[in-house]
Amino acid sequence: MASETHVLNSPPPGAGPDWLIPQGWENYTDDEHDVWDTLYARQAKLLPGRASSAFLRGLEALRLSDRGIPNFEELSARLMQLTGWQVVAVPGLVPDDVFFDHLANRRFVSGNFIRRRDQLDYLQEPDVFHDVFGHVPMLADPVFADYLAAYGRGGQRALRLGGDKYLKYLSRLYWYTVEFGLIEEAGALRIYGSGIVSSAAESVFALDDPSPNRIGFGLERVMRTEYRIDDFQQNYFVIPSFEELLRVTVETDFAPIYAAVEAADTIRIAEIAEGDQVFTIGTQAYAAARAQAKLV
Ligand code: PHE
Ligand code: FE
Repeated sequence: MASETHVLNSPPPGAGPDWLIPQGWENYTDDEHDVWDTLYARQAKLLPGRASSAFLRGLEALRLSDRGIPNFEELSARLMQLTGWQVVAVPGLVPDDVFFDHLANRRFVSGNFIRRRDQLDYLQEPDVFHDVFGHVPMLADPVFADYLAAYGRGGQRALRLGGDKYLKYLSRLYWYTVEFGLIEEAGALRIYGSGIVSSAAESVFALDDPSPNRIGFGLERVMRTEYRIDDFQQNYFVIPSFEELLRVTVETDFAPIYAAVEAADTIRIAEIAEGDQVFTIGTQAYAAARAQAKLV
């Protein structure tokens, strides 16, 4: 998840100054492992032909199909060999500086709890299924692995440049790539964002539904665009390749971009902007129906 909201201001009891806690793998119940298996089976059926080939390769390489909630130590050992990343447990959302420090040092922070069986489809807080199934397969890809570490360093730099001021723009980049990104592969759109690949309904919606806009990725475009955290996205942004995402973010000095984005107007959530490379102009019918339903 993005890091723009915090539950706590200081490490909770039992957590160190790095906010890390033990995963407590031995404490999961059989029922909790079964919830993982249920979610896993559902996504494994949906994702071939929908998820990016890098994501599907990561699932295989990390053996995430093994039964039950992964043990972070075993998972980290595999991931470390592939790209130098580890998976570590935190009690919930952590402060921005802590989050960036972990990413910059190739530690992916994950919640250790799993959703209940009556919450299979919807959850406000990221649980271990979202964090591990959704995020970790992409970290087995060397290019994406470099991107997320660079993002962590970018966050540290943003804090030095402007305190909290620029984090909003960086969060939008995270949201529209790491969480809800699409990629064009062999002429077709595929999903790679963790929020999509870990959701049965959004895995279909993001690619097949006529409602959302699908727009070519642009750094400033994304940084100027609002997003929603309460429902399916109304915009998805499409990258041409992970190499290109890494290149443009690493090679661009964000300092002048932050200033430009701050001076420019915010782009409304479903708006098509000048210069957009449009893959699909959405009908926005889904969002309209949901807004209507809330009124009655
Ligand atoms: N190039 C960015 C900067 O100048 C850092 C960054 C890299 C941010 C990759 C996000 C992703 O601040
Ligand atoms: Fe997430």
